[in-house]
Amino acid sequence: MNYRHSFHAGNFADLVKHALVLWLVQARQAMGPVVVLDTHAGAGLYDLSGDAARSKEAEAGVARLMTAQGRPPLMDALANEVRALNPDGATRFYPGSPRLIVDALSAGGCYVGFELNPPVRALLAEALAGRTNAETREGDGYDGAVAEAARVRAPLILIDPPFERPDDYARAAETAAAVVRRDPSATVAVWTPLKDLETFDAFIRRLQGKVGPTLVAEARLRPLTNPMKMNGCALVVVNPPRGAEAAAREICGWVADALGDPGARAEVWTF
Ligand SMILES: C[S@@+](CC[C@H](N)C(=O)[O-])C[C@H]1O[C@@H](n2cnc3c(N)ncnc32)[C@H](O)[C@@H]1O
Repeated sequence: MNYRHSFHAGNFADLVKHALVLWLVQARQAMGPVVVLDTHAGAGLYDLSGDAARSKEAEAGVARLMTAQGRPPLMDALANEVRALNPDGATRFYPGSPRLIVDALSAGGCYVGFELNPPVRALLAEALAGRTNAETREGDGYDGAVAEAARVRAPLILIDPPFERPDDYARAAETAAAVVRRDPSATVAVWTPLKDLETFDAFIRRLQGKVGPTLVAEARLRPLTNPMKMNGCALVVVNPPRGAEAAAREICGWVADALGDPGARAEVWTF
């Protein structure tokens, strides 16, 4: 386990994922309290003055979000969450999916985050300390989420692997399919990098025919010609709530336009 999200926290891909996840939590809980399962939770909260300052990814991502003029509402919503963590006006702290989700939950909602790496899980517990509607578990999030989903109705599940293992695509697809096969009212969002089209198409083919209606929200920051680079990212949402397509267009469109190379674009489609 070499992956450290602290280098990537607040980059363009986190902005896409977090703005859309924030919208998904709010859309799902408009219908009542929601249980959110986060298979790959990470540390929960990031100090951008550490690893992220060295990678400069947050500088090209959240730092630009916070100074942007004319942000659309769903990017503004994420910016507000970041501002709440930084009352002095600097952009030093950035919320991971756990803090963002737990702070957005309404009464009756709850969160379970899985993290395999013990030191990261300790940071996660610290980031969520005192939040009685949040639980953290050390262990494999794919198996953990399938088991936990069987105990609740209509969970919202985020699958956000590091993709450092060759089986992450297969396990993400199998987990999403297993959850919705058992509970067709569950919503599952899978984050993936966009490096080359072959890998992404193969992932989509793993899902097709095994899951219900699915939204694919892609932000392509540059052409997918160099497979060694993260040229964009996608959030694939199985059983999206009504309004998800418009939300995804707003978020991916802003990220591509504001942070991408010339020719960057959003692709939002369904199957
Ligand atoms: C991309 S980061 C998660 C970022 C987080 N979801 C967020 O948006 O802030 C992936 C995390 O998954 C952890 N991890 C890797 N394999 C795992 C597994 N099978 N189950 C649970 N956690 C895992 C890594 O240690 C890492 O902290």
